[in-house]
Amino acid sequence: MTTRRTVFLCGGAVAVSAVGVAAVVAHDMGSLDAFKAQTTLTRATLLQTPDIHEVLRYATLAPSGHNAQPWIFAAALDRLDIFPNPMRRTPVVDPDDHHLFVSLGCAAENLTLALAALGHPGEPSFNATNGGSIRVDMGRAKQVRSPLFDAIPKRQSTRADYDGRPVSSADLKTLAEAGSLAGVDLILITDRRQIDRISDLVIAGDTAQMGDKAFIDELRRWLRFSPREAMRTGDGLFSATTGAPILPEWLGPAAFDLTFKVKSENDKYARQLASSAGLAVFVGQKEDHEHWVQAGRAAQRFALQATALGLKHAFLNQPVEVASLRPELAGLVGLAGRRPDLVMRFGYGPDLPFSARRSVDAALRT
Ligand SMILES: Cc1cc2nc3c(=O)[nH]c(=O)nc-3n(C[C@H](O)[C@H](O)[C@H](O)COP(=O)(O)O)c2cc1C
Repeated sequence: MTTRRTVFLCGGAVAVSAVGVAAVVAHDMGSLDAFKAQTTLTRATLLQTPDIHEVLRYATLAPSGHNAQPWIFAAALDRLDIFPNPMRRTPVVDPDDHHLFVSLGCAAENLTLALAALGHPGEPSFNATNGGSIRVDMGRAKQVRSPLFDAIPKRQSTRADYDGRPVSSADLKTLAEAGSLAGVDLILITDRRQIDRISDLVIAGDTAQMGDKAFIDELRRWLRFSPREAMRTGDGLFSATTGAPILPEWLGPAAFDLTFKVKSENDKYARQLASSAGLAVFVGQKEDHEHWVQAGRAAQRFALQATALGLKHAFLNQPVEVASLRPELAGLVGLAGRRPDLVMRFGYGPDLPFSARRSVDAALRT
């Protein structure tokens, strides 16, 4: 009897402590629902007719490598400038700031669309002095709300399997038109054999990156495992945005090391590419900051148009980031000798949680 009672008490103690640990862990991580509410609210409360602060909020919703958000904004009465933020570089994966300037281009495109919606149309121009920046002079005209502007808060990089459905030729034409911009070639690929060849390059790039300690160390610094940390920093790659489980920050890195393996990552990429309707490859006509900004603008227009058509997209830039693979990718898309800037897949897929963003004030030059 005594023994049974002891066992019962011990079982109760274990149960109580398990609940206690779970409560502490949950408290430590923060809540995914709170994260989703915050990131959705950031987008839902955007003014339909934005003021200048709001225009910058639209700009911050642009994609950026590792979600580093490497931009600084400066606002004047008649113009807005975007400067690179050297504190937000990712020097291992992006040693020559290629992705950084592409990301600035994505932000410039959002900014331009939001300014047009505000009645201040302007064309971004690149200024090569002092490390490079982008200026948009604000004109004054009728407010123009384009479907691309409306798509800004809805766009996300959706790193999930898609459903394999093809995209109609009419929609492919609309996408090609949206993504065409001076100084950049857009190559649209829907042929399955060509997608498979590029899939092989993505996998070769992923294998090289996963064997590179410096790459993994840098990536780890941008990973966010808990809603609390994702909300606190407002940047980085939060596991839930890829459909992965959330974890307390103290547990995340160890779980990452245990589960982040070459074979499973490569299998995931092969599956994701096989389930996509097509690929868009963006190739600047020159290899300099100005053309990288243009490539970012073209890709952002494409991504917004895809969103407006109910399509999802995600970047797969491994064959661009691993320099030794660039010549083969350029040859595959018929542009031998050029440097490819971006590889994006698209198709029909699920909604995933949105990524976090830093506040406008955090990115505003004072
Ligand atoms: C230049 C550039 C390179 C990127 N490269 C990759 C990539 O190789 N793989 C990936 O999954 N996402 C890539 N991304 C997407 C970012 O990780 C993503 O934009 C960021 O996490 C914010 O998420 P969001 O686009 O859903 O707002 C890239 C984005 C940019 C602008």
